[in-house]
Amino acid sequence: MSAPVVDEANRRRTFAIISHPDAGKTTLTEKFLLYAGVLGEAGAVKARSGRRSATSDWMEMEQKRGISISSTALSFEYRGHQLNLLDTPGHRDFSEDTYRVLSAVDAVVMVLDSAKGIEPQTLKLFEVCRSRNLPVITFLNKYDRPGREPLELLDEIEEQIGLRPTPATWPVGISGEFRGVVDRRTGEFTRFTRTTRGTAIAPEEIVAAASAAAEEGSAWEHAQDECGLLDAVEADVDLPSFLAGESTPVFVGSALTNFGVRHVLDAIVELAPAPQPRLDVAGLPRPLDGDCSAFVFKVQANMDRSHRDRIAFVRICSGRFERGMVLICHRTGKPFATKYASTVFGAERTTVDEAYPGDVVGLVNATDLNIGDSLYEHVPVEFPPIPRFSPEVFASARPLDTGKSKQFRKGLAQLDEEGVVQVLRDPDMGDNAAVLAAVGQLQFDVFADRLDVEFNAPIEVLAAPYESIRLTDDQSAQRLREIGGIRVLTRGDGRLVALFESRYRLQRIENDEPDLVLDHIIAG
Ligand code: G4P
Repeated sequence: MSAPVVDEANRRRTFAIISHPDAGKTTLTEKFLLYAGVLGEAGAVKARSGRRSATSDWMEMEQKRGISISSTALSFEYRGHQLNLLDTPGHRDFSEDTYRVLSAVDAVVMVLDSAKGIEPQTLKLFEVCRSRNLPVITFLNKYDRPGREPLELLDEIEEQIGLRPTPATWPVGISGEFRGVVDRRTGEFTRFTRTTRGTAIAPEEIVAAASAAAEEGSAWEHAQDECGLLDAVEADVDLPSFLAGESTPVFVGSALTNFGVRHVLDAIVELAPAPQPRLDVAGLPRPLDGDCSAFVFKVQANMDRSHRDRIAFVRICSGRFERGMVLICHRTGKPFATKYASTVFGAERTTVDEAYPGDVVGLVNATDLNIGDSLYEHVPVEFPPIPRFSPEVFASARPLDTGKSKQFRKGLAQLDEEGVVQVLRDPDMGDNAAVLAAVGQLQFDVFADRLDVEFNAPIEVLAAPYESIRLTDDQSAQRLREIGGIRVLTRGDGRLVALFESRYRLQRIENDEPDLVLDHIIAG
């Protein structure tokens, strides 16, 4: 084995698009597919998802809220490369699901609405990319309508996320009168042509700098002045710092009218990294052309309610995956036959016969696989666990139908394993006393909805009065249990956690009793 595996890996770009809701993630996704020739006409993604919701009651909430809760992966060819786009749930609330998707990608496209810039609710998501040193390509969207000063947006990116923006293209024309972009690398001008909602690929008129100067007059001069400022601070696209997650190439455009979409796709191919050998727990790289290996970054049960199945989404890390091969799960030591391997687009599945590093495969009937599990064919490997995020909201679940306690317990266990919420238990008390912990409130809503719909165990979610959580150990737990306003519980992975009703009390304890183990749950 073999060069073909490395060649296939080099051809791949595995990435996610992240944005604040309404900044244009769905539109940009559609336009990527349009430019890649996958969709004859943009808009089909929405139409397709509409059909899906109509024929399947999977995630009724998705329909009710108009948001996409489940992550899916899309693969398409562009310029001889295979682009794997992992969808991240698009909602206002943080969810651990989104963060887990980020552990399976090699780069991220960050879409900002140029009229709004970075919005507080999504800042955390962008910070996670920064803290993990994920390479980020920035797309300043909606330039077809009035927006904020681009230099101001660059400052915001630098100050709030700590990423150094390096514009690849720069807008020509004042806000509301967008003329096009100048490519800072070549000096060429691409003129903006307003297409009707951009259902077809935008005609691109590329104009040499000299002609653009004559034709665009003061708008061109102004853009040149700003580019001069950018040159002076050496804000040029810089591959090493981009790959290190320190700088971000910035593109401007308008997804709706298709303007600038090609620039971003080209950047994914030219700048974003191909899959690299993944490091195992010991920090040793798993060679790309070695034995097949993968890790589970998402588990979704009951996607197809007529089948009641459980799919584990894995990212292939090394080797060639072949449908039907038997993989071993490192945690359980058990073999897993991959007879049913598929890619999932919404609820529609397509069988996958082979896959290479960077690809995402959905393994059907994955009853024994959990998030973070490492799989291998022959040569054992354990990849580092997917980081758990420190919960910020807490709740308890009150079953509404006491006759359904068996279903309730089953649902609790299943949804905990899937990571829908974290279930924290007191070993001396029943499941009814469990505390639910999550990064965002929406996780509780999804949890309650799924308990009701899939397990027939309706519950009421009640807010629990905790403000902070820390990891602790047995010895410290004994002391913590003596103090009021604290509960010590066990997490799904067996670790002890302490919940504090008051942040201030936690601070006092940390000051007064420094020997107690009270570790932050590290994100990223
Ligand atoms: P999201 O996935 O990030 O939530 O955003 P989405 O693509 O759904 O876009 C949100 C809204 O912004 C949509 O309008 C979309 O048409 C609009 N939009 C996206 N890109 C651009 C752009 O470049 N320029 C302008 N002017 N608008 C853009 P909507 O009214 O909510 O939906 P629709 O009726 O247009 O489908």
